[in-house]
Amino acid sequence: MPADGDLAEAASVLRTGGLVAFRTETVYGLGANALDARAAARIFEAKARPSFDPLITHLADAADLEPLVGPVPPAVAALASRFWPGPLTLIVDRPAGIPPIVTSGLASMAVRVPDDEHARRLIAAAGVPVAAPSANRFGQLSPTRAEHVVRGLGAAVDLVLDGGPTRCGIESTIVDARGEHPVVLRLGALPVEELAKVTGPVTVRPGSSGQPVAPGTLAAHYAPRTPLRLLPTGDGRSAAEPAPGGVRRGYLAFRDRPAPGWAAVEVLSATGDLTEAAARLFDALHRLDAAVVAEIVAEPVPETGLGRAVNDRLRRAAATWQPTG
Ligand code: TXA
Ligand code: MG
Repeated sequence: MPADGDLAEAASVLRTGGLVAFRTETVYGLGANALDARAAARIFEAKARPSFDPLITHLADAADLEPLVGPVPPAVAALASRFWPGPLTLIVDRPAGIPPIVTSGLASMAVRVPDDEHARRLIAAAGVPVAAPSANRFGQLSPTRAEHVVRGLGAAVDLVLDGGPTRCGIESTIVDARGEHPVVLRLGALPVEELAKVTGPVTVRPGSSGQPVAPGTLAAHYAPRTPLRLLPTGDGRSAAEPAPGGVRRGYLAFRDRPAPGWAAVEVLSATGDLTEAAARLFDALHRLDAAVVAEIVAEPVPETGLGRAVNDRLRRAAATWQPTG
């Protein structure tokens, strides 16, 4: 946990248009004052993020929502009151005070209250809403530790607050609940099953499940630098192939260690716990990337609860994989 002095300094960097990377319960965010178009522009620059990809605005408290955006539809209010603070991002109409660059020109805005004392204290101390994407270069692995941020973004960030590893390990679930039926726009750290308990049946927008319509046409996202190949869906038990000879390959397992021969192995959860697997996913991929292997072979996890979001990230990471040679 950063000291109070660090938080105060970070808050002042945010207020004066700087960029601060900070921990949330999901992944590290790269924050800027959401009311300041120039500060928000710096986020796009630092991440090399295309300007058409809108940012999520972060608030310190659920009570800060309506003063910023005005009255919201009842279903949105119900989800905010049930799940905030927490890993749920809600879509609302963009208020006049938020510059269009934050939402990439959309009339809507994504907003959430992170469940992390450290993040909420920072945002409260800054006294402004904080626009924050994941603190990685566009398309690359999301950071779950301060050192991932430093390695990926380096000098592009004014200040990195090291709060230790993040708890959930994957990004928030994004839901548009403004219409008659809630639609999940991105699978994430709040399982769809939990949402459905409040809203009734939810639709998961095709594409957010990560099932590419035409494999290879989907932009690589959440991707390690090393090519990643996803094995066919099994029952969640190890689908490990024997390690192929020749080049060094890494293996990402769900529960069971694969046969020997892999140059690097990561097991997401030896007990088969999907919460632990989600929390360790990006960290494991960062390590496999650092192991300098020619290819990462990954097992899908069971397609239930948080497993859906984990498989979503794996499918996107594998979307541009092509057989070598
Ligand atoms: O857990 C998280 O959500 C993390 C932490 C830092 O809060 N943030 C995060 O931000 O994952 P980012 O920028 O990496 O992903 C935000 C996603 C983008 O895919 C973007 O397209 C979508 O949110 N998004 C933002 N505003 C939107 C809007 N108005 N309508 C639909 N999608 C939106
Ligand atoms: Mg991201």
